[in-house]
Amino acid sequence: MKTVHVLYENADWLPPLTEALASRGLDVVEHFIDGGSIDISSPPPEGIFLNRMSPSSHTRGHQAGVVFMGEYLAWLESWGRRVINGSEAFALEVSKVRQHAVLQSAAILTPKTIAVIGLEAMRDAARSLTPPFITKHNQGGKGLGVQLFSSHAALDATLDAGGYDNSPDSVNLLQQYIEPSEPFITRVEIVDGEFLYALRSSTEGGFELCPADACSIEDAFCPVGTQADSGKFGIRHDVTADDPLVKRLIALCRSHRIDVAGIEFVEDAHGNRYVYDINGTTNFNSAVEAAHGFHGMGAIADLCVRELDGLGAAAAR
Ligand SMILES: Nc1ncnc2c1ncn2[C@@H]1O[C@H](COP(=O)(O)OP(=O)(O)O)[C@@H](O)[C@H]1O
Ligand SMILES: [Mg+2]
Repeated sequence: MKTVHVLYENADWLPPLTEALASRGLDVVEHFIDGGSIDISSPPPEGIFLNRMSPSSHTRGHQAGVVFMGEYLAWLESWGRRVINGSEAFALEVSKVRQHAVLQSAAILTPKTIAVIGLEAMRDAARSLTPPFITKHNQGGKGLGVQLFSSHAALDATLDAGGYDNSPDSVNLLQQYIEPSEPFITRVEIVDGEFLYALRSSTEGGFELCPADACSIEDAFCPVGTQADSGKFGIRHDVTADDPLVKRLIALCRSHRIDVAGIEFVEDAHGNRYVYDINGTTNFNSAVEAAHGFHGMGAIADLCVRELDGLGAAAAR
């Protein structure tokens, strides 16, 4: 039997993925990664592994799972197990500092950003940015910690009032705010080095932007959910696989072993496109996908099939 081990912490996000895997005849074993125990003295089970640990896990009480996942992936890979979005992708997933670093070294435009350790250093660090600027969590997801400040005094007042929630890893970013020329951001969906589509996501409701179906229900601006076709999300047909930025993003995914990614950029009034977020645990908006004939989870499932076929062929040699 061809087995895909799905490592996850949010069961609400699983059905679209497990249905796509099952429809391709794959055996799915779900592993909830938070709590419990794993015998690391024994080899991991056979099959391939799919990492679905989200950087917003702490909002569901699963921060320990985020920390453990880094260890778990190292163990799996030490045994030569294939992990989709393995340790290198995961290290990026949970750190916007690292995302910024790889984007910069790939000569991809990013907003000017300062990393701050501990909240006390934020005031002084912010002085080196010209307002408006935003704050955000290093381990970010769903727009957590993203606040817009139009002056240094406004940040000071927020900090004085205890109005800024610390990142789960205590590292926060101060970042140049890029005023969008039109009120949306773009999310480029990539699976296994292939461009799937570019999602357009309205910024009119605020900063918490996750396209998942499950998030659209619970968190008004999350792009994953099923009731998600509220007009907030759409397809950008003008952003294609031939777009030079898309090509660079694909090359970046390849060179950093990111198998699955939703990468976000915002465009300013001068046409500059700033990339600011790499999501590995990408979820897809089923309503938008259905309307346009896309199927992101299907693309992930097809990748699993290819990987398992590759394992089978290697074993037969
Ligand atoms: N530098 C920026 N300039 C303008 N808007 C931004 C910037 N960074 C983030 N945003 C807005 O905030 C949202 C959430 O920020 P993001 O970095 O994607 O955090 P998360 O990882 O939590 O999704 C973005 O989708 C975008 O709308
Ligand atoms: Mg984002």
